[in-house]
Amino acid sequence: MNSQEKITLGSFLLKKDGARLDPALNVLMTRLAQAAKTISHEIRNASISGNLGMAGGENPTGDEQKKLDVAANEIVLETFADSGRVAAVVSEELEAARCLDTAYPDSYILCVDPVGGSSNLDINGTVGTIFSFYRRKRTGRSQDPLAELQDRLPIAAAGYVMYGPGTILVFTGGAGVNGFTLDNRRGEFLLTQELIRSPARGSYYSANLGKYGQWDPYIRKFVDHLTGKDLASNGPYSLRYVGAMVADIHRNLLEGGIFFYPEDEKNRNGKLRLLYECAPMAFLVEQAGGRATTGRGSILDIRPESLHQQVPIAIGSPFEVDLYEKFCREGGE
Ligand code: AHG
Repeated sequence: MNSQEKITLGSFLLKKDGARLDPALNVLMTRLAQAAKTISHEIRNASISGNLGMAGGENPTGDEQKKLDVAANEIVLETFADSGRVAAVVSEELEAARCLDTAYPDSYILCVDPVGGSSNLDINGTVGTIFSFYRRKRTGRSQDPLAELQDRLPIAAAGYVMYGPGTILVFTGGAGVNGFTLDNRRGEFLLTQELIRSPARGSYYSANLGKYGQWDPYIRKFVDHLTGKDLASNGPYSLRYVGAMVADIHRNLLEGGIFFYPEDEKNRNGKLRLLYECAPMAFLVEQAGGRATTGRGSILDIRPESLHQQVPIAIGSPFEVDLYEKFCREGGE
């Protein structure tokens, strides 16, 4: 099947069967895809346009901001500013939510990490955008996005864009996970991976082993178990760690395995942010039949306490995530 025969994102969004989105989300996913194309262009031309390196500021979690962090955040805000459908944007790069005027009764809160894996930007590594749209119960401009998000709003759609050898968009509207690849010649995202399903178990694990000495003993025992010779059939596991959770989770989603970022001495509640990193990825992976946990409970059961709340996470194939929880509960096999 050549490019002309593949389904475009636009055609996919307009189809009326169960796997498609409601009309409002069609509009938002179309805008999200537009933002992704623009961010992809900025990333791939950054070394030419002088957009590599530090921006000089810090984000709300204290990470030094790269120029592309700031640029990608501006692209997202500009893309949704006049959508009339987004009442607030919660971004890794903004201390407070950016509240926007709405023009329709049904509106959403967008939680976004414009560029995740920023440490890879200056070395031509893979990075990603992570997003989720929460369907609001209220109308009009949001007065308190955090209070709304604490009211158990349903995630209407979530996913990620991965800027690797190709630019891919993987998302779910709650009825399965589909992957699209950007055809740069046509400027269209084309359906290339339909109804992605997580393998039941895998042979990869993704974690920053430089933190091994800082992890709780049961996490170290989990890693020792995965890399020991005592594993029936699937061991020992291979380590793959990109430094961008989008890339690690994408691999494990397709080929099986687990990504985890536990709490450590520097990040006592974990490093990754609930609203715009962990919850969107958890929603998508669980839609594909995978699992996502803090080690003691589901990521999606957490009621957010703040916009930039950090949580520990283990996410991927059910076998490995169940095993991770077992070590967290019982301290080992
Ligand atoms: P950042 O965007 O600040 O580079 O953080 C990326 C996140 C996540 O995408 C990645 O898996 C993890 O942080 C990497 O953290 P370490 O560098 O501490 O391993």
